[in-house]
Amino acid sequence: MAGLLIIETVEELKDVLFRIRSNGKSIGFVPTMGALHDGHLSLIKRAHDETEVVVCSIFVNPTQFNQMSDLESYPKTPEQDIAKIEEYVDIVFMPTQAEIYPEPPSEKFDFGQLEKVMEGTSRPGHFNGVATIVKRLFDWINPDKAYFGEKDFQQLAIIRQLVKDNNLDVQIVACPIVRESNGLAMSSRNRRLTPEQFVLAGNIARILEASTRITPCTVQNVKEFVNNELGKYPDFRLDYFEIADENTLQPVADFNGHDGVMGCVAIYLGDVRLIDNIRYK
Ligand code: PAF
Repeated sequence: MAGLLIIETVEELKDVLFRIRSNGKSIGFVPTMGALHDGHLSLIKRAHDETEVVVCSIFVNPTQFNQMSDLESYPKTPEQDIAKIEEYVDIVFMPTQAEIYPEPPSEKFDFGQLEKVMEGTSRPGHFNGVATIVKRLFDWINPDKAYFGEKDFQQLAIIRQLVKDNNLDVQIVACPIVRESNGLAMSSRNRRLTPEQFVLAGNIARILEASTRITPCTVQNVKEFVNNELGKYPDFRLDYFEIADENTLQPVADFNGHDGVMGCVAIYLGDVRLIDNIRYK
């Protein structure tokens, strides 16, 4: 496509994409909430490599925030966002809240056990909000492929379930976590950390990484190690550290008997909530 198109209404979005699809072009979609960083850029570049037309949405979705203060303090940097991605994106969808939610949304999703652990427990309603916006965006954009980061590992599982439950014709592409130079998983929330907190936050990834080398490597040993190490930093307020089956996300007692096992952590540093994960198997 020639030049970047910035679209604010659903009607125009559907219209433009209808024409693109009629011309037989494949569509790659990267949903975001803005404050874009190199993690987002990795998704966008991958979409650019794999599909003919790339759509990126920038919308801070209020229905997935279970705390008003988190929504209000969520960074908003639209000009910088566009400058960062314009080389790789054809369409940026930047709607207002009223455009997406002309009426209060009433969608209710049931993801069973998948949403009864970790983020689902700590942030009630969060995944219903994520599913609400992602389903609407998928319906309007109808992408061939949609790109999500593995940092939000549980979100990825929820999206895959959403696609399955609704028989959606979109391929979900999972992209690896992109990290800062100190190992901290990139996140839009990182820019709310003070320089001291940023340095401190690098220990999360370091501890997770070290926990993959524990011997003997049992679930109990790994848990003890991670909890002890994190406990050495009084500024960390641990929300959870779980060792979970990569597909069901249910806690495991043993590494054996599972195809893949992940360690997932959520920590508050000041009022900034950070999540990260690591693969044990
Ligand atoms: O991962 C995010 O940034 C958001 O949860 C998403 C997928 C854009 C939905 O608002």
